[in-house]
Amino acid sequence: MRANSFSPKPKVTGDHHLWFQAGLANPSRLLLIATAADGWPIGQIRFDRQPASTEGSVSGATVDQSLDRCARGVLGLASELVRLTLQAMEQRWELATDAAVEALTSNTASNACFARAGFTQESDLVSSIPRSSRAVTCWRWCPAALPCSAMPAAG
Ligand SMILES: CC(C)(COP(=O)(O)OP(=O)(O)OC[C@H]1O[C@@H](n2cnc3c(N)ncnc32)[C@H](O)[C@@H]1OP(=O)(O)O)[C@@H](O)C(=O)NCCC(=O)NCCS
Repeated sequence: MRANSFSPKPKVTGDHHLWFQAGLANPSRLLLIATAADGWPIGQIRFDRQPASTEGSVSGATVDQSLDRCARGVLGLASELVRLTLQAMEQRWELATDAAVEALTSNTASNACFARAGFTQESDLVSSIPRSSRAVTCWRWCPAALPCSAMPAAG
């Protein structure tokens, strides 16, 4: 999984627990754990709400998703999780929140997942990840009532 990450260094367990706890307490983070029918966790999806860039403008959320290897390749599961989390986001935060994700262009499954979940590819959005020398594809989702140019490019 780290191979598809922008920071591919392995996580240190103690640091990761602290990071996880802080995320649970952060009102701008929506973190959902997907479980199988028996309750076993099979993946996570995280939306981080970014501050609106100007007063009155629409806020946006960045997205990160991962499935356990055993849960990958299940038809439609990854994109359904994204769709369900978009619904949860609309309930948790104000309606006018859009969502954006940057995926490595080589990450076929991730790019296909966001396309299937209704995100549109942004050709004009500059990646906010200058440290990455790898090609990045930018995706955005907007609530139905908004034009899809509401969230300014990050960075
Ligand atoms: C990204 C991730 C959640 C996608 O879940 P997944 O179960 O692997 O995805 P799927 O198997 O449903 O594949 C999604 C689509 O990509 C296609 N796909 C997957 N691998 C492919 C490949 N190597 N070549 C071509 N198409 C491929 C699938 O056919 C599917 O297409 P469809 O929606 O038209 O049916 C999962 O791969 C993952 O957790 N990866 C590691 C973490 C990660 O990369 N997260 C993304 C960071 S933004």
